[in-house]
Amino acid sequence: MTPMIVLGIESSCDDTAVALLADDHRGVITHKTLTQLRHQDFGGVVPEIAARAHLEHIGTLVTACLAEAGIDPAGITAVAATVGPGLIGGLVVGATFGKAYAIARDIPFIGINHLEGHALSPLLAGDVAFPFLLLLVSGGHCQILSVNGVGDYTLYGTTKDDAIGECLDKSAKMMGLAYPGGPLIEQLALACPDRAAAARAVSLPRPLMGDGTCDFSLSGLKSAVRRHIEQLPAGDIPRDTAAAIAASLENAVADVVTDRLENAITRFKADHARAFALSSSTPPHTGAAHVPALVVAGGVAANAYLRATLETLAAKHGLSFAAPPMKYCTDNGAMIALAALLRLKAGETGDITARTRPRWPLADLTQPPSAKAAS
Ligand code: KG4
Ligand code: ZN
Repeated sequence: MTPMIVLGIESSCDDTAVALLADDHRGVITHKTLTQLRHQDFGGVVPEIAARAHLEHIGTLVTACLAEAGIDPAGITAVAATVGPGLIGGLVVGATFGKAYAIARDIPFIGINHLEGHALSPLLAGDVAFPFLLLLVSGGHCQILSVNGVGDYTLYGTTKDDAIGECLDKSAKMMGLAYPGGPLIEQLALACPDRAAAARAVSLPRPLMGDGTCDFSLSGLKSAVRRHIEQLPAGDIPRDTAAAIAASLENAVADVVTDRLENAITRFKADHARAFALSSSTPPHTGAAHVPALVVAGGVAANAYLRATLETLAAKHGLSFAAPPMKYCTDNGAMIALAALLRLKAGETGDITARTRPRWPLADLTQPPSAKAAS
C-alpha cells in the first residue's frame, strides 16, 4: 500500500515550521523550523512582524523540506496547518498557504488546533501511550491536560494570567537579560552555589499553592521579582545577585508546578482507574499494559531543574516520565502533521473551509469519526 505522507505547517506564533510525516517506518521524514530572532529587539513577539516573516519564509521552507526528503509534491497525501489558537496574522499565512497547496494538488486540507498538536506530540517520540498526563509549559501555554485519545482531552488546569515561560521571560527582562530569558535564567541558576541560601535571600511567593486546583497564576510571582529588583541598589545587577534571583525563581516555579501536578495526578488516577489497575496487574516487561506517563512539553520543558523535579514526582506517584526531544517539545510542524495523520486515519476527510481562530479551546474540539463511534 502507498504510504500516507502529510505536510504539516505551523505558524501560530514566531516559529515558521514545516514537516513531512509518513505513516510507515520513516515517521518524521524531515522537518525545518525558522525561529524569528528579529523579535529579540522588542523583548517579545510583535504580531505584525511575525506574520510578514511567515509569509517571507513559508514557501522556501516547504520547497527545502521536499527537496531534502527527495519527495515529489505529487507524493503528498494531505496538507495540515495550524488554524488556531494563535496570532491571527500568522495563522492566516499558514492556513492560506496550506489550503492553496491542497487545492492545487487536489488533496485534503486539515486545519489543526495548535494545542492538540502539542498534546499529541509525545507520540512522535514513540514511547507514550494513551492516556497520559501532560504538562504543557511554553511562552504562550501553561496547561495540565489528561490526553485520553485523539480529539479527547480533559483540561485539568490552565493559567489565570501569564504562562510560566512568559513569567520567566518578563522576569529576565527586568533583570536586564535578553529575550527569550528562560534559558538565561537557567544558566544563571546553575551558577548559584547554594539554592537554599538563594531562596532565603530572595523570598518569592508560590501563587495558588495549596488551593486544591490545577490552575496557575504567575503574575504575582513576576511582580515579586520586580519588587525585589526595585529594592536593589541602582545600576546593573551583580552576577551573584542575579544568580540568586534566578535560582529562587526556578525553585518557586518548580514548587508551584509540583503542587498543581499533585492535584492533577490524584484526578488523573481517578479518571483512569482502569488503566492503572491494568498496568499494576500486568507483569513488567510483557508490553501488554503501559504504566501511564507524566509528560512535559513546551519550551520550558528544556529546563533541567524542572525536568528533574517532575521525574521525581512521577516516580513518587508510580507514573512513568517522558519528556520528548526538544525538537518536538517546542513549536514544530511534525506535531501538526501527526495530529492530521491520526485524524485522517480515524476517518476524517479534511475541510478546505476550516477557519482561522485566535481563540480555540481544546474543549471545543471534536473527535474524529472512528474515535466517536468507539466511545
Ligand atoms: O514552546 P516555545 O519554544 O514557544 C512558545 O512559546 O510557544 O517556548 C518558549 C518558552 C520561552 O518562554 C523560553 O524562555 C522558555 O520556553 N524556555 C525555557 C528554557 N528554554 C526555553 N525556560 C526555562 N528554561 C529553559 N532552558
Ligand atoms: Zn506552542
